[in-house]
Amino acid sequence: MITVQLDKKKHNRKRFDCGVEALNNYLCLLANQQSSKDNTRTFVLEDESHSENIIGYYTLTMTPIDLEALPTQLQKRHQNAKAGGLLARLAVDKRYAKQGFGEWLLIDALKKRLSASETVAFPLIIVDAKEGAISFYEKFGFRAFLDTSNKLFITVADVRKSLG
Ligand SMILES: CC(C)(COP(=O)(O)OP(=O)(O)OC[C@H]1O[C@@H](n2cnc3c(N)ncnc32)[C@H](O)[C@@H]1OP(=O)(O)O)[C@@H](O)C(=O)NCCC(=O)NCCS
Repeated sequence: MITVQLDKKKHNRKRFDCGVEALNNYLCLLANQQSSKDNTRTFVLEDESHSENIIGYYTLTMTPIDLEALPTQLQKRHQNAKAGGLLARLAVDKRYAKQGFGEWLLIDALKKRLSASETVAFPLIIVDAKEGAISFYEKFGFRAFLDTSNKLFITVADVRKSLG
């Protein structure tokens, strides 16, 4: 399995339904536009038997780090860091849910972040989690920022230890 960049000419974006309207709409209306402006990149996992159908997707970009909302030890270590890699969205179509695709997509996204960090260094990978998905990310070692439960992070060093 591999992810490819969203291709509006090929992929059936309207068919995608993960159950969260905002995430469906982003894929349908904004993902391609944002990529063409070099603001974000959206990667999709295609259904191997119908490659126009999207099993799941994630969107990558960068985000400022709120140093004060990190545990003290990490604040000191990363006091000169300006930005973290953001996993802005991750979703699996309901038709393919609970088959391990969400986990596979998250690991794929982390590998891409790790690889990007080798050329443009950044110390943290940050996710904006929807309400029901916080424990999904916690399972994989993400921790909440101190000032909000919906925004979580994992250090690139920890990802490197697990996947590098
Ligand atoms: C969250 C989501 C990506 C999970 O995708 P999925 O393909 O069904 O998940 P997987 O089958 O890979 O599950 C992997 C593990 O995570 C767990 N898991 C799945 N969804 C979870 C959730 N919402 N909360 C906590 N754990 C979850 C599974 O039980 C599984 O654990 P196990 O290995 O111990 O059995 C998917 O349900 C989704 O797209 N939801 C709507 C959008 C959303 O909330 N996105 C995430 C935040 S932006």
